Amino acid sequence: MDSQVNSDPWEKVAQRLGSDLHLDLPPDHSTGPPGRGARRRHALAEALRAAIADGRLPAGSRLPPYRSLAADVGLARGTVATVYQELVAEGWLVARQGSGTRVADGARGPGPAAAAPASSSTSNTPVHNFALGQPNSSLFPRTDWVASTRRVMAAAPDDAFGPGHPRGSSPLRRALAGYLSRARGVRTDPDQIVLTTSVKYALELLSRNVFGESIAVESHGLPFHRQAIERGATTTTPIPIDTAGAVIDAIPDRTTAVLLTPSHQFPTGVALSPARRAAVVDWARARGGLVVEDDYDGELRYDRDPVGVLQALGPDVVIHTGSVSKSISPALRIAWLVLPPHLVDTVAWAKGIREPDASIVDQLILADMIETGAYDRHVRRSRQYYRRRRDHLTARFAATGVESHGIAAGLHAVIPVDPRDESAILTEGSRRGFAFAALSLFRHPDAPPPDDAGGIVVGFGTPSASTYSRDVDALVDLIGDYLPKRRLRAE
Ligand SMILES: Cc1ncc(COP(=O)(O)O)c(C=O)c1O
Repeated sequence: MDSQVNSDPWEKVAQRLGSDLHLDLPPDHSTGPPGRGARRRHALAEALRAAIADGRLPAGSRLPPYRSLAADVGLARGTVATVYQELVAEGWLVARQGSGTRVADGARGPGPAAAAPASSSTSNTPVHNFALGQPNSSLFPRTDWVASTRRVMAAAPDDAFGPGHPRGSSPLRRALAGYLSRARGVRTDPDQIVLTTSVKYALELLSRNVFGESIAVESHGLPFHRQAIERGATTTTPIPIDTAGAVIDAIPDRTTAVLLTPSHQFPTGVALSPARRAAVVDWARARGGLVVEDDYDGELRYDRDPVGVLQALGPDVVIHTGSVSKSISPALRIAWLVLPPHLVDTVAWAKGIREPDASIVDQLILADMIETGAYDRHVRRSRQYYRRRRDHLTARFAATGVESHGIAAGLHAVIPVDPRDESAILTEGSRRGFAFAALSLFRHPDAPPPDDAGGIVVGFGTPSASTYSRDVDALVDLIGDYLPKRRLRAE
């Protein structure tokens, strides 16, 4: 594993991969012929037409190379090529030698504005560092960051270095609107975006200015996000999570807002089911309420079926938030809110008359990385790197009969253990130099403890490449020490 990770020429691989594109392709549950290929080809063509028609793929956008889209959607390269040719023939796309395939001028439909109504670490120096919430620091795109810095410094007008608008820099809002729409399916334009320094700060801002007295939250979530909300004087009420995600029917009557992690519930990793996605949007519309979608690692998905954003179903009632803390680095402090249009001024002006905290210069640099494709390449390179780590971890645990959970996306996995063993594993883990967390750490204080579902939550992005294999071996040994006990109890 180590040698694989170390020897891979990531830069070269990433250069070949092109841009990221989220498409609403229905999952394919068929196991083979007859007609499977034709159905998938038809579905891909439909998804591309829809993305162009509703403005997520504006005129001039470059489509990913056949090879990369084929890998993403699980089709043969030739099939993707046929679909592109079909859409060229229909006038949706144009193909030019040397500049790839692009969306044709005039192919755009009504667009997003029309679609939207009215517009534990247990030790200071862990030997086996599976701390959560961090990408691998060695992946920071230093060269691209320096290149973008040079370009920005050469081109930015002097007034770029004056005080910033509380909404954040316009070049980054423009770049993000295009990127989020293309890569995650978000329905937005730059005017709906307010930049912040973190999802945590975004929640605090919303809590002080937008939420009412109480908000429903998933029974398990980041404690410091709940604290940020409560600092703004909104109380949080837990709703249960099952295999289809948060139980929407359990939102209390008096509550008019709910915070969800729909693409990849944090920390259990389940995705909110399509029926519940529709239900929560209906709930918000019927109650005059709001849904906050924390899309914290939506870009780091590893398995084929895409999980698009909830915001696309209800841009009038869903607030979408995300940051680069997982995709690049938490050291940058760049995050965003995509707001229903009627909330933009309230949130922006709540920050004050000028940007209070964020570095506008860093925002310009990120905008340049997005515009030049460097951010896409970085995300794709990171995804491949973490996917290998995820595969290695799950295979090592599977070999001992343990099935890790929550691993379709993101930077952490849940290793199921008996809840009664959690604290013993934490203590022993600390003694052996591990950093990781127990599932119970994330439980809302008012949520009932689960009878049977305990877990150890491990951040597999964090260990260094040179120690990863050994760290995983040590983790498998540690958890293995508790397996016989679980089996004995179950018998
Ligand atoms: C559930 C969840 N949401 C959001 C984030 C991003 O946090 P922030 O932008 O506040 O650094 C993280 C990062 O760990 C997370 O785990």
